[in-house]
Amino acid sequence: MTLVALVSISFVLFYFSINTTTLTQAHCLPEQHHSLIQLKQCFNTTKLNSWNVSTDCCIWDGIKCDEQTGMVTALNLAHMFISGELNPAYLNLRLLHYLNLSRNLIDNVILPQTGFERLGLRTLLSNVTKLQFLRLDGVDISLNGSEWGKAVLQVGPTLRELLMVDCGLIGNFPDEIFHFTNITYLDLSYNSMLLGQLSEFTKLSLL
Ligand SMILES: *[C@@H]1O[C@H](CO)[C@@H](O)[C@H](O)[C@H]1NC(C)=O
Ligand SMILES: *[C@@H]1O[C@H](CO)[C@@H](O)[C@H](O)[C@H]1NC(C)=O
Ligand SMILES: *[C@@H]1O[C@H](CO)[C@@H](O)[C@H](O)[C@H]1NC(C)=O
Ligand SMILES: *[C@@H]1O[C@H](CO)[C@@H](O)[C@H](O)[C@H]1NC(C)=O
Ligand SMILES: *[C@@H]1O[C@H](CO)[C@@H](O)[C@H](O)[C@H]1NC(C)=O
Ligand SMILES: *[C@@H]1O[C@H](CO)[C@@H](O)[C@H](O)[C@H]1NC(C)=O
Repeated sequence: MTLVALVSISFVLFYFSINTTTLTQAHCLPEQHHSLIQLKQCFNTTKLNSWNVSTDCCIWDGIKCDEQTGMVTALNLAHMFISGELNPAYLNLRLLHYLNLSRNLIDNVILPQTGFERLGLRTLLSNVTKLQFLRLDGVDISLNGSEWGKAVLQVGPTLRELLMVDCGLIGNFPDEIFHFTNITYLDLSYNSMLLGQLSEFTKLSLL
């Protein structure tokens, strides 16, 4: 009942913005808004003041939305000094094209490390089948090749850029990543235990 009402309101707002033509700003879908608020509640950070429950999530720092649907398409929490857990509500952000959780390199702050350990890379990537950019530098994943490979392969062929620098990756490089024809950028450096067949890299002409 409440959800139906909220959805109707968002449609009214949506059409209102079309009719007044000057507004191109997307309006956050209520369920996406709610998921982000849940995410924030598990983070320990002073950097998310713009994530105000009474404002539209599409204007919050680090968030971009699809103008038509109000679905969140980008989540960039890099450089935000976040610690804490990644709430499973994250999984509702299923139309993410862009995910950047890389650490603050200057201060060497590792983002949200405990959350990744608890939730796991596999869960993190289980519902984001539109993802194009994934950047997880410095997040301690510590999974061997078959494990993190399977997790990354869940994203599917939309993936264009994958940066997992210094993530504690171990084992063999998963060859299947080369079957993602849209991959143009891959950086897995500083994973000292990662083994791979470098000859495979020549197949990625765009790399
Ligand atoms: C949040 O971070 C501050 C600064 O790093 C720390 O002192 C505090 O204990 C943290 N709080 C929680 C609940 O983790
Ligand atoms: C959130 O936004 C409302 C309305 O714009 C404002 O009154 C309130 O002070 C804001 N809260 C915080 C914590 O910034
Ligand atoms: C990730 O976010 C940081 C901070 O906003 C930015 O400097 C960096 O270029 C971003 N990385 C990618 C791959 O977009
Ligand atoms: C994944 O997305 C689907 C819709 O595409 C949604 O119904 C489902 O609840 C999501 N899964 C999780 C674990 O949130
Ligand atoms: C990778 O981890 C999985 C699960 O822990 C394990 O079953 C598998 O044997 C490991 N593979 C290698 C090559 O270490
Ligand atoms: C690969 O990229 C092209 C050009 O951006 C796009 O049209 C196509 O849909 C992408 N393929 C996948 C599987 O995402």
